[in-house]
Amino acid sequence: MVKKTFYITTPIYYPSDKLHIGHAYTTVAADAMCRFKKQTGYDTWFLTGSDEHGQKIERAANAKGVTPQEYVDRIVAGFKELWGRLEVEYSDFIRTTEPRHKKVASSIFQKLYEQGDIYKASYEGWYCSPCETFWTEGRLDDGNCPDCGRPVEKLQEENYFFRMSKYSDRLLQYIEEHPEFIQPVSRRNEMVSFIKSGLEDLCVSRTTFDWGIPVPFDTQNVIYVWVDALTNYISALGYDSEDDSLFKKYWPADVHLMGKDIVRFHSVIWPILLMALGIELPRRVVGHGWLLLDSGKMSKSKGNVVDPMELIDKYGVDAIRYYLLRELPFGSDGNYSEEALAERINKDLANDLGNLISRSIAMIEKYFQGLVKVPAENEGPDRELVELAEQTPAAVEEFMDKMEISNALAAIWRLVGRANKYVDETAPWGLAKDESNHGRLATVLYNLAESLRFITVMVSSFMPLLPGRVWTQLGLEDRPDLTTWESLSWGKLPSGTVVEKGPALFPRIDMKNLK
Ligand code: MSP
Repeated sequence: MVKKTFYITTPIYYPSDKLHIGHAYTTVAADAMCRFKKQTGYDTWFLTGSDEHGQKIERAANAKGVTPQEYVDRIVAGFKELWGRLEVEYSDFIRTTEPRHKKVASSIFQKLYEQGDIYKASYEGWYCSPCETFWTEGRLDDGNCPDCGRPVEKLQEENYFFRMSKYSDRLLQYIEEHPEFIQPVSRRNEMVSFIKSGLEDLCVSRTTFDWGIPVPFDTQNVIYVWVDALTNYISALGYDSEDDSLFKKYWPADVHLMGKDIVRFHSVIWPILLMALGIELPRRVVGHGWLLLDSGKMSKSKGNVVDPMELIDKYGVDAIRYYLLRELPFGSDGNYSEEALAERINKDLANDLGNLISRSIAMIEKYFQGLVKVPAENEGPDRELVELAEQTPAAVEEFMDKMEISNALAAIWRLVGRANKYVDETAPWGLAKDESNHGRLATVLYNLAESLRFITVMVSSFMPLLPGRVWTQLGLEDRPDLTTWESLSWGKLPSGTVVEKGPALFPRIDMKNLK
């Protein structure tokens, strides 16, 4: 049977500086989503990369006295190291300075020029150099850049323009006919009113610096960095190149995931570029909220960034991933604090999940020498637990389909909570006291072990290192057939399985030691 495909992308990050925990959020979310789709039977492709051209990079390199290429090479190596540490399993990493990308970006530009969608005109406008964007007088905000609020300078030059205005009605119609295209709905509404306010043709060339892909038919100009960058989503699949099998297989993208700040580029410029090229549009453009520090967006220029590497060293990858994915509700902003991170680890991971695993396994060891026994008939509280366990995978799938990762985790934690309550309700230590209750005890402990299997399978996309550690304790390390999503039907855990307690999965953090 041919598997359904799932193609997800992150933004390609600017290698102007090291990445912070806000960037890590986007990529970890995409990774969790992709792992989940793979686990539930899809043939997946996950693309990330780096957006290496533009004036900002050129300036940063000049300031360091190195070439732009040397500069980005060093920073991009750091990106890859970070993704490795965060257990991010991308299928491909595209760099916009790679020949395979430059060729495609350049040929797309040429094609649009030949078909009349890119034209040359003289232009006078206001230029925001940090954003590398031209603005008309009317769009300025109190005379400053409407995006970043910084001062703009007046520039007059000959430039190439992309006929965005020509496509605005088609784009609006597309958005109306595809309500799921831009998510969440608040972003969609914003985009619709932005388009309705009138799209101007977009200036797609620059002459003020060199670090870019030359305009193929006028090499004094370089291609506007956003046009260059957006095409990564297809250049990496081999669009318009000798081997375009990945493009044929995975395009259109199922999800372009990003922060809300760049939804406009992805839901206006990108679809219009694709329409002009006669390429199918991506299925969903999803904009998540920001991770805020002291209620402001983390940014290097503000000096309020948190280094993910330090956090991983201190708390471990699974804990960091869990925190990021759980803390930011879909679409809205969330505040980062180390205290909140430590509290999440202590409560959700150490107390709720860690304890459930360690006490269940400890009881099986203590009462049945580590042997999972044949369960008897289920009674009242057993049925409630089993029912919830059986419903949870479908609930998780439903949330994940809506990209509601935090809600998916919450659903799994409802089962964790239910299982902990089950321990209190059934009080196995009491049953153990009387030989005649050992049948009942076997059932209770079986149900706990089976719950652990369900929970561990379900958390594995979010916390990729945890399952390996649990499977050894639960005696399932050689039973891959029992650790798949498909295996989640109640009662598959064989009696006779031997469990063995290991080290604590999530040591508690002493809140006093926080800075
Ligand atoms: N290079 C462009 C993207 C081109 S995609 C064709 C770019 N790069 S970036 O490095 O500045 O940031 C990319 C993304 O990082 C943001 O859109 C967002 O997804 C993520 N984040 C950056 N700071 C963030 C937070 N504080 N919180 C959450 N996400 C953050 O824009």
